[in-house]
Amino acid sequence: MTEVETAQQPRTFRTQVEPFLDNDTETFSYVVYDREGGRAAVIDPVLDYDPKSGRTSTAGAERLVKFVKEKNLTVDWILETHAHADHLSAAPFVRDHVGGKLAIGEKINEVQKIFRDVFNLEKEFLVDGSQFDKLFAEGETFHVGELDAEVIYTPGHTPADMSWRIGDAVFVGDTLFMPDVGTARCDFPGGDARTLYRSIRRLLSMPEDTRLFMCHDYPDGRREHRYETTVGEQKRHNIHVRDGIDEDTFVEMRTTRDAGLEMPRLILPSIQVNIRAGDLPPPEDNGTVYFKIPVNKL
Ligand SMILES: [Fe+2]
Repeated sequence: MTEVETAQQPRTFRTQVEPFLDNDTETFSYVVYDREGGRAAVIDPVLDYDPKSGRTSTAGAERLVKFVKEKNLTVDWILETHAHADHLSAAPFVRDHVGGKLAIGEKINEVQKIFRDVFNLEKEFLVDGSQFDKLFAEGETFHVGELDAEVIYTPGHTPADMSWRIGDAVFVGDTLFMPDVGTARCDFPGGDARTLYRSIRRLLSMPEDTRLFMCHDYPDGRREHRYETTVGEQKRHNIHVRDGIDEDTFVEMRTTRDAGLEMPRLILPSIQVNIRAGDLPPPEDNGTVYFKIPVNKL
């Protein structure tokens, strides 16, 4: 048997994917694993946050932890696709309860630098990504049990976005949304529509049957939430980037559209937590943690 024939044999372990929808922010987190009793990665876990009271809750993340325990999984990785601006990360809670190394793209340092200045963070705040257990670079490979995994650098929404391919499934973060919703915004500090277009075309150069898993879905009442699509479906139907829509047309559309979007409801607390790898800011001398609001800045 030649090497080529070997590579085309069906995988013994098809990637198992369990989605968890956070209704409040319309975010999908995932537990990705090779088999019951096997190894797992957790992607983009959400910490609930009520901006009216300033209270956090782990109710959503607890569902995910319960699933990991029920399936008797060993968590090797907790993977963030990027520093989210719409929800707080529950990565520390997940790590405390089921373990795993917390990883993000290596360019997180650029995002940290931008927001250290926006929030005038304490001198001790490091902008080298060292708050995370591991920083991944484009093209790095790793394993989730029997599944081979690969890091795909897909900037544009932020300078640090990574897509994670685990077996036959790709977790695309905020690049593509479902075909009828389109693509992620590019107007946050460090975002760039042209860069996003190129990242997306790269994702869409993968085999047509590659399964793509979204970080969000915004069906706006038209249908139920969906989280899974394929490269082929996106190429044929994505309203922003299907085949035939060129880079300049996309950039014009994306830029115009972004100019009319409001900031996400939770952007200020989210960023302050997520650039610290999900930790809250240090408490003040009375023991209380505070979030800052930069006035007339964003
Ligand atoms: Fe995002």
